[in-house]
Amino acid sequence: MAARNAATAQPYTAEALSIQPRNVKFDWSDVPQQYIPGETYATHFWNVMHLVLPEGERAMADVFAQAMPFIEDERLREELKGFVGQEETHANSHETFRQHLEDGGVDVPRIMRMMEFVIDQVFGDHGLQGKAAEMWLNERLGIYAAAEHFTAVIGEWLIDNKEFDNVGVDPTMLDLLRWHGAEEMEHRNVAFDVYQHVDGSYARRVRTALIASVGLGALWMSTSSYLYNQEPASKKAGPWPWALAKSMKNGLVPNISFFIKEMPQYLNPTFRRLSGTSRSPPPLGRLDDVRRRRQKRGRPALADAADDKCRSEGLLRTFRGQPGRSGALASEAGASHRLRSQPGRRTHHQGS
Ligand SMILES: [Fe+2]
Ligand SMILES: [Fe+2]
Repeated sequence: MAARNAATAQPYTAEALSIQPRNVKFDWSDVPQQYIPGETYATHFWNVMHLVLPEGERAMADVFAQAMPFIEDERLREELKGFVGQEETHANSHETFRQHLEDGGVDVPRIMRMMEFVIDQVFGDHGLQGKAAEMWLNERLGIYAAAEHFTAVIGEWLIDNKEFDNVGVDPTMLDLLRWHGAEEMEHRNVAFDVYQHVDGSYARRVRTALIASVGLGALWMSTSSYLYNQEPASKKAGPWPWALAKSMKNGLVPNISFFIKEMPQYLNPTFRRLSGTSRSPPPLGRLDDVRRRRQKRGRPALADAADDKCRSEGLLRTFRGQPGRSGALASEAGASHRLRSQPGRRTHHQGS
């Protein structure tokens, strides 16, 4: 039995999984500062996830929560609640590593000030009202929807990457990265579906995809190069573009050309269908892979715990054509405090 999402005209199958946040915890006490052994630049490349992403993910969750009152599709509302909850959990989990970085000499407050500026001065609400507020919400939904496509691609890369295992990346850090990557893949379509539902303009999709790719790339490169340049080891290892190229060649960071390669996919009018079938492996299967690798190493089962929790709390629950649990939606994702219900502020249209 399949329900149809009126927003995107995509059938939901009976086996479709609900998206829910998982309650995970990471113990950083035994994790070295350079968790990718001997790789200063690659380590700092992934440190961007701990330093920059939490603020970005919270800002994104806030913007999508603002869109909630304009979504009538129950299934999409439920997915959005799970998406917001997952992003908040990602932010909280990465943030726990910051103290560890600061203890190792990273100037975390400086990066936080930069992110505060970006979030407040660039992506903030700016006190807009009426039509201007509506347009700005749509624009941010478009930017974040495109950014989510790129984070899903990075997530897929993190899950598939074998070099991390070969070079002996710290297993706890590897768990964090791959768990995050798996959930990025799991909720890869939600932000796009919400954008299509609330606005859906193709011109805005093109424009915001360009803004998101340039912005995300610039933020990631500038932060990782700043962190790398602070390291005494960088004097010996050479300038950051050289170190980046070496890390890409060694398979420790994604090739940045994927920003260009992925653009046509995202701008394809049939994007949702493509990404929902051939490009998306079953996310729970990927979490199972993480769990098996961890068990092989005889490590405490962090990913296992997350996986078990998601099973016990109903991730495997199927919809089977039932309406979503609308009564408890906001509190489930921890999003209710962020919702700014403004009934009657706008009339959304459906379809793309
Ligand atoms: Fe995330
Ligand atoms: Fe995400």
